[in-house]
Amino acid sequence: MSEARAAQDAATPLIRLRGITRVYGEGQAQVRALDGVDLDVEAGEFVAIMGPSGSGKSTVMNVIGCLDTPSAGQYLFRGVAVEKLSRDQRALLRRLYLGFVFQGFNLLARTSAQENVELPLLYRGESVQARHAAASATLESVGLGGREHHTPAELSGGQQQRVAIARAIVTNPQVLLADEPTGNLDTHRSREIMELIQGLNRERGLTVLMVTHEAEMAAYAKRIVRFVDGRIASDVRNDAPAGASAGEAA
Ligand SMILES: Nc1ncnc2c1ncn2[C@@H]1O[C@H](COP(=O)(O)OP(=O)(O)O)[C@@H](O)[C@H]1O
Ligand SMILES: [Mg+2]
Repeated sequence: MSEARAAQDAATPLIRLRGITRVYGEGQAQVRALDGVDLDVEAGEFVAIMGPSGSGKSTVMNVIGCLDTPSAGQYLFRGVAVEKLSRDQRALLRRLYLGFVFQGFNLLARTSAQENVELPLLYRGESVQARHAAASATLESVGLGGREHHTPAELSGGQQQRVAIARAIVTNPQVLLADEPTGNLDTHRSREIMELIQGLNRERGLTVLMVTHEAEMAAYAKRIVRFVDGRIASDVRNDAPAGASAGEAA
């Protein structure tokens, strides 16, 4: 590799969107969910995505998460053009690099916390022992040690979201994509979840993109991007994030 090429690669952000557009439907019913989005996210960032309902927040998360394909534009993940990947390659990218957390937790019912968290490792073909050890350690790390054998119905909303976060990070992804992770939680539980997510960003260097419509939750992030009508309306750094170590020198 030439030095020029190496320098260029070093400068490529983890995530780069250029002119990303996503159109749903046809004719009169056409909706431009995303309308020319340019966004760079560096490894290690914690970005909150805000904006009114219908502004394209979930659509951009789905594009970044390779769950949806844009109608136009370019998406580079670690410098790789995602639109040029095959379906299987995109699935692999998801499995290797991305973790997802949703508002509704999306846990398997009648299945223990431990088994829910082991599932992504099962898809990876890891041994029973490796799955068990990794899931236990990850549940412990999100504060659920001792709750491994509880089913979702036996856990509170906040605990269910912790299981979902454990499931998202048990594979050691580079990026956590969280779409309204506190949308179903009360303020107290929401703050606990935000501190957990913030800790994963700070301590593990996990890159986090999180959608929220609550300013109080967005305040935990280091950067706040606001969407309006499928476009980025503002993009600002937050030099004094909320949270456990608030007040510490940046
Ligand atoms: N699968 C879909 N089919 C048609 N329209 C959609 C679909 N998904 C989203 N939209 C539309 O795209 C726009 C953006 O949606 P979304 O990204 O879900 O917004 P947000 O998450 O900010 O509330 C909305 O007008 C929504 O109705
Ligand atoms: Mg949404």
